[in-house]
Amino acid sequence: MTIDSNVARSTDGSAHADVERVRIFDTTLRDGEQAPGFSMDRRAKLRMAQALEALGVDVLEAGFPKASPGDFAAVAEIAAALKTTTVCGLARCQPGDIDDAARALEKARRSRIHVFLSTSPLHREHKLGMSKAQVLDAAVAGVERAHGLCHEVEFSAEDALRTEPEFLVEVFSAAVAAGATTLNAPDTVGYTTPSEIVELFEYLRRHVRGADKVVFSSHCHDDLGMAVANSMAAISAGARQVECTINGIGERAGNAALEEVVMALKVRGALFGVDTRIDTRKLYPTSRLLTQLTGQAVPRNKAIVGENAFAHESGIHQHGMLKHRGTYEIMLPQDVGIGETRLVLGKHSGRAALRQRLEALGHTPDEASMEAILGRFKTLADKKREIHDEDLEAIALGHDPDAQGPWHLLQLSSSTHMGGSASASVKLAHDDGREIGEAAIGDGPVDAVLRAIERATGSDLELTDFLVRAVGEGGDAQGQAQLTARHAERAWRGHGVSTDIVEATALAALAIVNRISRQTPAAAPVAVAHL
Ligand code: KIV
Ligand code: ZN
Repeated sequence: MTIDSNVARSTDGSAHADVERVRIFDTTLRDGEQAPGFSMDRRAKLRMAQALEALGVDVLEAGFPKASPGDFAAVAEIAAALKTTTVCGLARCQPGDIDDAARALEKARRSRIHVFLSTSPLHREHKLGMSKAQVLDAAVAGVERAHGLCHEVEFSAEDALRTEPEFLVEVFSAAVAAGATTLNAPDTVGYTTPSEIVELFEYLRRHVRGADKVVFSSHCHDDLGMAVANSMAAISAGARQVECTINGIGERAGNAALEEVVMALKVRGALFGVDTRIDTRKLYPTSRLLTQLTGQAVPRNKAIVGENAFAHESGIHQHGMLKHRGTYEIMLPQDVGIGETRLVLGKHSGRAALRQRLEALGHTPDEASMEAILGRFKTLADKKREIHDEDLEAIALGHDPDAQGPWHLLQLSSSTHMGGSASASVKLAHDDGREIGEAAIGDGPVDAVLRAIERATGSDLELTDFLVRAVGEGGDAQGQAQLTARHAERAWRGHGVSTDIVEATALAALAIVNRISRQTPAAAPVAVAHL
């Protein structure tokens, strides 16, 4: 095993000119987009394509032009817009598919047609009803047709990992002779294992005629959770193109996650000895863009880009991190475009992390006060999943973090009008006995109710994050609103729950206003870096 003692330092500049390059073939907009829940309209696809070009992918599979007029138009638009990335369109080994792909790619500065045909016995017999000889002929005809219509041709033997290796060699050799320059061996159903894929790639590189003139490519699905491990194994056996997607989206369990493959190559550079052209600092922003465009969040514990990827709550880990970050992190969050490591304060946290956060907030308690603060912190942490800065400040200042008020919501009504505007009115009661009613109009009901609350309470909230989600299932599910606002140079969070999301939002906004009111004058204002 290679142990890099410099873990958790920036890996920038680790690439040397003589290091071999693995091409990153991104199929987020084809294999990823064709999975349920991930479809994108043309505008979204173009935005994503531009982000992928900025990320530095070598080849971008923009779609399957024959699939629909929308797919055709999206591929054509992306082909015309991208400046450096090779744009690729998928096609079956059928003249209509190949001609459509070529037309869609006409404006690409560099174009690739990706022709594919199943080669495995199962697919030959049950899906295609074709003999080996027919598959061979169709593959050759497909590659030959594509050859004259674009800059480069890739041939994929669908279900390659369940194909007889000797037949795969025959088909690939014929594809090279017909003009293919990239040979892709997909694990279409995510069935293989690292040792099997190594064996296959080594075999192909030894036996395919013309192997030294082409690039071998892997395309692994994640049905058994091994897509990234299998892709890495294929690289170690000589694959020099990896097909992958942002956040690992794709058919069924998805494809190999681009960010995981790229960071594995970077962090374990000494082991793999190959590099990519990816600007890793753009990995997180690109992942976020995809979640925004598709509305599909990544799990908290997702490698590289999940919310927990650089967050630590356990006291033992936090203590280690404060002494030397390499104890529990193998890469810097900045290297993937995440601002900073988060030491999350919760019931598993200890004194070291608590003191560090308090100091960052401008509090320097002596040992006796620290003991009392720690006790109050643990009591609150048993009730709440995460302790935020405002909770901590309330504890440090001796306030009750569970306190309610001074403002309370008495009445709320909102209506939406044709053309997009909305109005809302609120009636609030203050602990000092005042009752204040205010109304406002806004771009939508949420905007209108926030404005009405600002007016009624005389506060000024700059909203930086707004999340609404259902708690429970069905039409009567509760809506939970979480707001983050900036006020006096810091972030304040509030959440509200109701069956009506406008009311949930009003309660979340009031929670923020109340926190600010209770803690003013607050301790030295702090800039909150991680919203
Ligand atoms: O998984 C697969 O086999 C594919 C091919 C079209 C390359 O997506
Ligand atoms: Zn696939």
